[in-house]
Amino acid sequence: MLFAPLLVGDESDTEREQAIAERLKPFGSSCLEGQDCGTVAPTPTEFGVGLDGKGVYDKFCSVCHETGVSEAPLVASEAWDERVAKGAEVLLANTKAGFNEVMPAKGNCLDCTDAELQSAIDYMVTGEEDGKAFP
Ligand code: HEC
Repeated sequence: MLFAPLLVGDESDTEREQAIAERLKPFGSSCLEGQDCGTVAPTPTEFGVGLDGKGVYDKFCSVCHETGVSEAPLVASEAWDERVAKGAEVLLANTKAGFNEVMPAKGNCLDCTDAELQSAIDYMVTGEEDGKAFP
Protein backbone atom coordinates (compact mmCIF):
# COMPACT_ATOMS: atom_id res chain seq x y z
CA MET A 1 0.00 0.00 0.00
CA LEU A 2 1.23 3.47 -0.86
CA PHE A 3 0.04 6.55 0.96
CA ALA A 4 0.96 9.83 -0.65
CA PRO A 5 0.85 12.46 2.10
CA LEU A 6 -1.70 15.14 1.30
CA LEU A 7 0.10 17.85 3.19
CA VAL A 8 3.82 18.10 3.38
CA GLY A 9 4.54 18.97 6.95
CA ASP A 10 8.02 20.36 6.69
CA GLU A 11 7.24 22.90 3.98
CA SER A 12 7.00 26.43 5.30
CA ASP A 13 3.91 28.50 4.59
CA THR A 14 5.84 30.74 2.25
CA GLU A 15 7.25 27.84 0.30
CA ARG A 16 3.82 26.36 -0.03
CA GLU A 17 2.34 29.64 -1.18
CA GLN A 18 5.07 30.03 -3.76
CA ALA A 19 4.51 26.52 -4.99
CA ILE A 20 0.78 27.16 -5.29
CA ALA A 21 1.37 30.43 -7.11
CA GLU A 22 3.73 28.63 -9.46
CA ARG A 23 1.14 25.99 -10.25
CA LEU A 24 -1.55 28.60 -10.87
CA LYS A 25 0.57 30.66 -13.24
CA PRO A 26 -0.52 28.94 -16.46
CA PHE A 27 -4.09 30.03 -15.75
CA GLY A 28 -3.23 33.67 -15.84
CA SER A 29 -1.82 35.99 -13.28
CA SER A 30 -3.14 35.18 -9.89
CA CYS A 31 -2.19 36.35 -6.51
CA LEU A 32 -2.71 35.07 -3.03
CA GLU A 33 -4.60 36.71 -0.25
CA GLY A 34 -2.55 39.35 1.50
CA GLN A 35 -0.22 39.88 -1.42
CA ASP A 36 0.01 43.16 -3.25
CA CYS A 37 -0.91 42.18 -6.75
CA GLY A 38 -0.14 45.56 -8.20
CA THR A 39 -3.59 45.93 -9.72
CA VAL A 40 -6.91 47.22 -8.57
CA ALA A 41 -9.24 44.35 -7.84
CA PRO A 42 -11.86 44.10 -10.57
CA THR A 43 -15.40 44.90 -9.60
CA PRO A 44 -17.94 42.14 -10.29
CA THR A 45 -19.37 44.03 -13.26
CA GLU A 46 -16.06 43.59 -15.07
CA PHE A 47 -16.52 39.84 -15.27
CA GLY A 48 -18.63 38.34 -18.00
CA VAL A 49 -17.60 37.27 -21.46
CA GLY A 50 -15.39 40.28 -22.09
CA LEU A 51 -17.01 41.26 -25.37
CA ASP A 52 -18.49 44.55 -26.52
CA GLY A 53 -22.03 44.83 -27.79
CA LYS A 54 -21.23 43.78 -31.33
CA GLY A 55 -19.00 40.99 -30.06
CA VAL A 56 -21.79 39.56 -27.91
CA TYR A 57 -24.23 39.99 -30.77
CA ASP A 58 -21.97 38.25 -33.30
CA LYS A 59 -21.27 35.35 -31.01
CA PHE A 60 -24.62 34.77 -29.31
CA CYS A 61 -27.49 36.75 -30.77
CA SER A 62 -26.84 36.86 -34.51
CA VAL A 63 -27.82 33.24 -35.03
CA CYS A 64 -31.45 34.36 -34.64
CA HIS A 65 -31.38 38.13 -34.95
CA GLU A 66 -29.44 38.03 -38.25
CA THR A 67 -31.92 35.74 -39.93
CA GLY A 68 -35.12 36.81 -38.24
CA VAL A 69 -35.95 33.25 -37.22
CA SER A 70 -39.25 33.18 -35.30
CA GLU A 71 -39.49 36.88 -36.15
CA ALA A 72 -36.52 37.88 -34.08
CA PRO A 73 -36.09 41.61 -34.69
CA LEU A 74 -33.21 42.34 -37.09
CA VAL A 75 -30.33 44.73 -36.41
CA ALA A 76 -31.34 48.36 -36.78
CA SER A 77 -34.77 47.44 -38.14
CA GLU A 78 -38.07 49.20 -37.53
CA ALA A 79 -39.20 46.14 -35.60
CA TRP A 80 -37.34 47.66 -32.67
CA ASP A 81 -39.45 50.81 -32.45
CA GLU A 82 -42.33 49.34 -30.48
CA ARG A 83 -39.97 47.24 -28.38
CA VAL A 84 -37.77 50.17 -27.44
CA ALA A 85 -40.95 52.01 -26.49
CA LYS A 86 -41.37 49.47 -23.67
CA GLY A 87 -38.35 51.02 -21.98
CA ALA A 88 -34.79 49.98 -21.22
CA GLU A 89 -35.61 48.06 -18.06
CA VAL A 90 -38.33 45.94 -19.67
CA LEU A 91 -36.16 45.11 -22.65
CA LEU A 92 -33.24 44.06 -20.48
CA ALA A 93 -35.52 42.08 -18.17
CA ASN A 94 -37.07 40.25 -21.14
CA THR A 95 -33.61 39.53 -22.49
CA LYS A 96 -32.48 38.08 -19.17
CA ALA A 97 -35.58 36.00 -18.55
CA GLY A 98 -36.24 35.05 -22.15
CA PHE A 99 -39.30 36.13 -24.08
CA ASN A 100 -42.33 34.38 -25.56
CA GLU A 101 -40.57 31.02 -25.49
CA VAL A 102 -38.68 31.86 -28.70
CA MET A 103 -36.10 34.22 -27.29
CA PRO A 104 -33.87 32.18 -24.94
CA ALA A 105 -32.88 33.47 -21.51
CA LYS A 106 -29.91 35.84 -21.78
CA GLY A 107 -29.93 35.16 -25.53
CA ASN A 108 -27.91 32.04 -24.67
CA CYS A 109 -25.06 34.16 -23.33
CA LEU A 110 -25.35 32.76 -19.83
CA ASP A 111 -22.10 34.34 -18.65
CA CYS A 112 -22.96 37.78 -19.97
CA THR A 113 -23.29 40.57 -17.43
CA ASP A 114 -26.27 42.92 -17.54
CA ALA A 115 -23.98 45.56 -19.03
CA GLU A 116 -22.88 43.20 -21.79
CA LEU A 117 -26.46 42.25 -22.60
CA GLN A 118 -27.37 45.94 -22.63
CA SER A 119 -24.51 46.66 -25.05
CA ALA A 120 -25.72 43.88 -27.31
CA ILE A 121 -29.23 45.35 -27.23
CA ASP A 122 -27.80 48.79 -27.99
CA TYR A 123 -25.95 47.38 -30.97
CA MET A 124 -28.98 45.44 -32.22
CA VAL A 125 -31.28 48.42 -32.02
CA THR A 126 -28.91 50.97 -33.55
CA GLY A 127 -26.57 48.90 -35.74
CA GLU A 128 -23.72 50.99 -34.39
CA GLU A 129 -20.92 49.59 -32.28
CA ASP A 130 -21.15 52.37 -29.72
CA GLY A 131 -24.81 53.11 -30.31
CA LYS A 132 -27.30 53.60 -27.51
CA ALA A 133 -30.82 52.23 -27.78
CA PHE A 134 -31.91 54.55 -25.00
CA PRO A 135 -30.21 57.91 -25.28
C1 HEC B 1 -32.70 31.25 -30.42
C2 HEC B 1 -32.91 32.52 -31.08
C3 HEC B 1 -32.50 33.79 -30.38
C4 HEC B 1 -31.28 34.12 -29.83
C5 HEC B 1 -30.03 33.28 -29.75
C6 HEC B 1 -31.42 35.47 -29.32
N1 HEC B 1 -32.68 35.94 -29.54
FE1 HEC B 1 -33.43 37.72 -28.92
N2 HEC B 1 -35.24 37.22 -29.71
C7 HEC B 1 -35.52 36.08 -30.43
C8 HEC B 1 -36.87 36.14 -30.92
C9 HEC B 1 -37.55 35.08 -31.77
C10 HEC B 1 -37.41 37.36 -30.45
C11 HEC B 1 -38.83 37.90 -30.67
C12 HEC B 1 -39.70 37.34 -29.58
C13 HEC B 1 -41.12 37.82 -29.72
O1 HEC B 1 -41.34 39.03 -29.83
O2 HEC B 1 -42.03 36.98 -29.65
C14 HEC B 1 -36.36 38.01 -29.69
C15 HEC B 1 -36.51 39.23 -29.05
C16 HEC B 1 -35.51 39.90 -28.41
C17 HEC B 1 -35.66 41.17 -27.75
C18 HEC B 1 -36.95 41.99 -27.63
C19 HEC B 1 -37.64 41.63 -26.35
C20 HEC B 1 -38.87 42.45 -26.15
O3 HEC B 1 -39.23 42.71 -25.00
O4 HEC B 1 -39.52 42.84 -27.15
C21 HEC B 1 -34.44 41.53 -27.26
C22 HEC B 1 -34.08 42.78 -26.51
C23 HEC B 1 -33.53 40.46 -27.60
N3 HEC B 1 -34.21 39.48 -28.29
C24 HEC B 1 -32.19 40.45 -27.28
C25 HEC B 1 -31.33 39.41 -27.56
C26 HEC B 1 -29.94 39.42 -27.20
C27 HEC B 1 -29.22 40.57 -26.51
C28 HEC B 1 -29.42 38.22 -27.62
C29 HEC B 1 -28.00 37.74 -27.51
C30 HEC B 1 -27.31 37.93 -26.26
C31 HEC B 1 -30.51 37.47 -28.22
N4 HEC B 1 -31.63 38.23 -28.17
C32 HEC B 1 -30.38 36.17 -28.73
C33 HEC B 1 -34.67 35.03 -30.67
C34 HEC B 1 -33.37 34.95 -30.21
